[in-house]
Amino acid sequence: MAEPSTEPDLFDTIVNLCVRRGFVFRSAEIYGGFRSAYDYGPLGVLLLRNVKEQWWRSMVQMRHDVVGMDASILSPPAVWEASGHLDNFTDPMVDCRSCGTRHRSDKLEDPEACPDCGERGQLTEPRQFNLMFSTHAGPVADSAAQVYLRPETAQGMFINFANVLRASRKRPPFGIAQIGKSFRNEITPGNFVFRTREFEQMEMEYFVPPDTADEWYEHWCQARHQWYLDLGINPESVRLQAHGADELSHYSSATSDVEFLFPWGWDELEGIANRGDYDLRCHAEHSGERLEYFDPATGEHYVPHVIEPAAGATRAAMAFLMSAYDTEVVNDAERVVLRLDRRLAPYQVAVLPLSRKDVLVPVAQRVFDLLKGRWSCDYDETQAIGRRYRRQDEIGTPLCVTVDFDTLEDDAVTVRDRDTMAQDRVGIDRLPGYLAERLP
Ligand code: GAP
Repeated sequence: MAEPSTEPDLFDTIVNLCVRRGFVFRSAEIYGGFRSAYDYGPLGVLLLRNVKEQWWRSMVQMRHDVVGMDASILSPPAVWEASGHLDNFTDPMVDCRSCGTRHRSDKLEDPEACPDCGERGQLTEPRQFNLMFSTHAGPVADSAAQVYLRPETAQGMFINFANVLRASRKRPPFGIAQIGKSFRNEITPGNFVFRTREFEQMEMEYFVPPDTADEWYEHWCQARHQWYLDLGINPESVRLQAHGADELSHYSSATSDVEFLFPWGWDELEGIANRGDYDLRCHAEHSGERLEYFDPATGEHYVPHVIEPAAGATRAAMAFLMSAYDTEVVNDAERVVLRLDRRLAPYQVAVLPLSRKDVLVPVAQRVFDLLKGRWSCDYDETQAIGRRYRRQDEIGTPLCVTVDFDTLEDDAVTVRDRDTMAQDRVGIDRLPGYLAERLP
């Protein structure tokens, strides 16, 4: 089957749009930038919040069998020793003797050549490099005070399995979900926010009776693929790919990735893994706690198996942006439109007084006040109205509400649709109901 074509230009276009319109900024830019970390600006923070909110809604709010939690980011070495991260969470690294750069040896196109300076035969032998960041808790920087920044949110849920089981009175199958920052000292961060050293994950650990694990694994693979489709990602650009037996981690009996067709090719958005009883067993052995479920129906204790859908919030936001980006020619000029789903758009409504004239502004502010409690609204009174519509199109605002001089006579406004550019005249008293039908 032919691979769909990739578009390197789209990458630069999206990066440019993100920086120009305030989705994403380079971290510490006024000090020359801090490679591999990014700051989310006024629009980016809204988009990211919406992505996380939609994940939480579908994974926690809409399910009676999943509860949430928020574990600490700092944790003691014992956690990472038990999970295997201290020994195994490594990437193979090589140094270039010629230019001093470092690279992941498993990602080199030519294993002999440095990808930066091109010199051949100058790369060192690969060494294993642990990706966890460590620091010290308290004022004494000795090894007894060493702690780690979590490289995944998952372990916080495994070590709280017994607490959550007891407190929530759930029983398998049930899940614990969490959204939060994770940190990995990636050797080669890159592709904008795709691979960074600080990022946000959305993970859920679903604990099931062992004999139902395969079924639940299939369920979560389909459900997680569908989540991206329901939020409007182009079906041609997202797929579910099962790992081959040689790609599986030692504890996983099956893993599939949800992949997105990024401008550089298919790449991972999320992994769904059947982790068996590996995690609970490791933590039970190392901590001495019983991490089991007592089934009153059979009178037996068992260690639940875990199905884990693990997604990246920042990667998902980037994929939604790329998938939504569209251009068309209108009246001989290019119109850029982000066709974001209304649930993800940073603003759902923009309130625009036709001019800054004193008579229009109070009415426009009254309209803004009428809508702001229910929808995320922008308010903009600068520039010509056509240019303001284009600005809203470019950031994906589904509806613009314009207050004009006729409003002073008929107490009605013009509502313009982002996708069709069709305009409706709507009485202000009917406006909340009209918007509720289109932005439920
Ligand atoms: N608990 C399993 C786990 O953490 P993972 O595949 O290493 O699995 C899950 O991470 C997701 O987290 C990835 O699919 C990706 O979306 C996101 N992710 C991982 N490393 C990342 C990085 N350096 N930058 C941005 N997102 C990352």
